[in-house]
Amino acid sequence: FQPKLLTGKRVLITAGPTYEPIDPVRGLTNRSSGKMGFALARAAAQSGAQVHLVAGPTPLATPADVIRHDVQTAQQMLDAVLAKIAETDIFIAVAAVSDWRVDQTSAEKIKKNSEFVAPHLTFVENPDILQQVAHLPKPPFCVGFAAESNELEKHGQEKRIRKNVPLLVGNLGPKAFGCEDNEVTLFDAKGVTPLPRMDKQMLARTLIAEIAQRLALTN
Ligand code: C5P
Repeated sequence: FQPKLLTGKRVLITAGPTYEPIDPVRGLTNRSSGKMGFALARAAAQSGAQVHLVAGPTPLATPADVIRHDVQTAQQMLDAVLAKIAETDIFIAVAAVSDWRVDQTSAEKIKKNSEFVAPHLTFVENPDILQQVAHLPKPPFCVGFAAESNELEKHGQEKRIRKNVPLLVGNLGPKAFGCEDNEVTLFDAKGVTPLPRMDKQMLARTLIAEIAQRLALTN
């Protein structure tokens, strides 16, 4: 049973990895199963919200009552998010967006050459979707995620402030990848709250309740 905490609210979620092509057969991606973002989309829909899910490449099935927009690259993810942002009350950025893309993608497969010289790729930085949305003149309520490999407490609060989001959900990265459960810490203006380990669907419901509570306070 999921209480209807978000009835009438419009929720936009990014989930999964992005895929930045190098040539027609190769690309740069991030480790993300999409499970946490999809679990949040399901929990938000069950809470009565209208949910749009912008998903990078993942084989996961679309949760019931969720409108899905499939994208590949970070730029496509940003475009899909900006197209919906004016009609969004809550933006939850869960996607593991590639920080870089290659400057020049090759239209043809890059061949190995006989001199054994590996290709040199130049990377350019991708837009930070969450940071852009959170710095809009009238941002929706923004929630970020952060996977850190160490010193979660320090990096979590720093990242929350840099990204300008009222709520950041942090975890110690590799432990959560592809798993069915997760252990996270919440960072907000009041401080740091560790949550117990739980499965991702239960965690999603808990996070929706945390978001609904904070949203009620800001309105
Ligand atoms: O800086 P870092 O990648 O650790 O930040 C993670 C948070 O920012 C996540 O919420 C992620 O979805 C979001 N993000 C984004 N666009 C990027 C990089 C991260 O929306 N280019």
